[in-house]
Amino acid sequence: MKDILQELETRRAEARLGGGQKRIDGQHAKGKLTARERIELLLDEGSFEEFDMFVTHRCTDFGMEESKPYGDGVVTGWGTVNGRQVYVFAQDFTVLGGSLSATHAMKIVKIMDMAMQNGAPVIGIKDSGGARIQEGVDSLAGYGDVFDRNIQASGVIPQISVIMGPCAGGAVYSPAMTDFIFMVKDSSYMFVTGPDVVKTVTNEQVTAEELGGATTHTRKSSVADAAFENDVEALAEIRRLVDFLPANNREGVPVRPFFDDPKRVEPSLDTLVPENPNMPYDMKELILKVADEGDFYEIQEDFAKNIITGFIRLEGRTVGVVANQPMVLAGCLDIDSARKAARFVRFCDAFEIPLLTFVDVPGFLPGTKQEYDGIIKHGAKLLFAYGQATVPKVTVITRKAYGGAYVVMASKHLRGDFNYAWPTSEVAVMGAKGAVEILYRSELDDPEKIERRTRDYEDRFANPFVAAERGFIDEVIQPRSTRMRVARAFASLRKKKVETPWKKHDNIPL
Ligand code: HXC
Repeated sequence: MKDILQELETRRAEARLGGGQKRIDGQHAKGKLTARERIELLLDEGSFEEFDMFVTHRCTDFGMEESKPYGDGVVTGWGTVNGRQVYVFAQDFTVLGGSLSATHAMKIVKIMDMAMQNGAPVIGIKDSGGARIQEGVDSLAGYGDVFDRNIQASGVIPQISVIMGPCAGGAVYSPAMTDFIFMVKDSSYMFVTGPDVVKTVTNEQVTAEELGGATTHTRKSSVADAAFENDVEALAEIRRLVDFLPANNREGVPVRPFFDDPKRVEPSLDTLVPENPNMPYDMKELILKVADEGDFYEIQEDFAKNIITGFIRLEGRTVGVVANQPMVLAGCLDIDSARKAARFVRFCDAFEIPLLTFVDVPGFLPGTKQEYDGIIKHGAKLLFAYGQATVPKVTVITRKAYGGAYVVMASKHLRGDFNYAWPTSEVAVMGAKGAVEILYRSELDDPEKIERRTRDYEDRFANPFVAAERGFIDEVIQPRSTRMRVARAFASLRKKKVETPWKKHDNIPL
């Protein structure tokens, strides 16, 4: 018996060494952790239960039968993050460059099937040279099986991808179909075709980092949701995110103990909106002052900064926040911000996370670039997403809510449950200046008349009361009491149920 136990330990030790000490040292020299080190940091101490540690590939071509490393380039299993179950797989670059073989894929698929069956999130750590070249179509079939699981799991369990090394070619489409993608600066990249192919085909000279590094994907392409300095920071932030997320689409948001009085008033919010309606202010201040303990997990912080998306908690329960940011493009909606917010709204709705919307939007960004690139379709995404969302929806207009953008931003007309406005709100078709220039074109050369007309328009529409008279605004509230009002609103909506007409699925503008 002793020998058998010894044998097990010897085999385990071999498996834990992956591609061997030399390759582990190589991984460290690049500033990267190994797959096992990453899992250890991601999960609660001692909680990792590994699966398929002794799986080996079955390839016999190109001399592959001579080396069959245990684990086959991916470490899989489950564990907990602050006590809540998650499934995890981490590609092991030290074993055949973390390349994906048929058996490597089989291990990932097994974990994903278990995660689906047991209703827990999946976190995939990517560090791979792509399809195992020696295995040919068997490897491609493996990718196909993983893609299939990504699609089936979408909207059922949260899927998080963490890119911590190469992720190239068709392999990018697995993370692309997950809910969140996180990258590590200077050590991860994602692209469909690499710099060499780009050079050959388009004659563009570009480095891997420029083409598909963390900065590119968080600022330009919006493929990634955040970029972190190193593996350690990335894994700590993923733990923080997991704390906000429901385990699946049926369980509802996690409830945590909270130490922040839901009735807390914030007198400073009474002066957040400047007197001059054209002056910007920082909408993040409002989000932080409303959130439990000022804790805000921002998604896509570096992209389309004219809209803010992320998670807070109210009375210990997760709430998704969408907010126009007057500091950037005056808070206008454009293609990027509409796409960013629409995807976030749909994630929240799929996972029963209530939505809080803060509105200060002067309209859609004008310009040929926007029109040619399809602002009509992209803007419709956000409108559609809000209208379709059946989760509790609470909206607070802080200042401008003009034109179509007023309707888009979780208005009453899209079945908002609580639509509040600050006294500083202006709900109108457009700003006073623009309106007067259209209505009184013939008087434009008389500045005195125009000024009077502008004042008349402002008196009539530069306030929330016309909308409130019609019931489009449920209540005009004091800015200082916003946290209390929205917390009470969400508390009253905890049992909200909405019946929707049967359909196979919708046809959201893509
Ligand atoms: C088999 C691979 C491999 C692969 C790397 N290795 N990629 N083995 N299949 N795809 C092995 C190497 O042979 C090497 O083995 C070890 O992993 C480390 O690789 P290095 O090249 O030494 O590392 P590095 O210099 O850091 O370069 C990493 C790399 C490079 C940029 C990822 O290895 C590379 O270009 N690999 C090929 C990438 C590729 O073309 N993949 C197919 C993409 S198409 P030894 O034994 O020497 O340590 C694809 C299609 C997916 O993925 C389709 C989905 C539908």
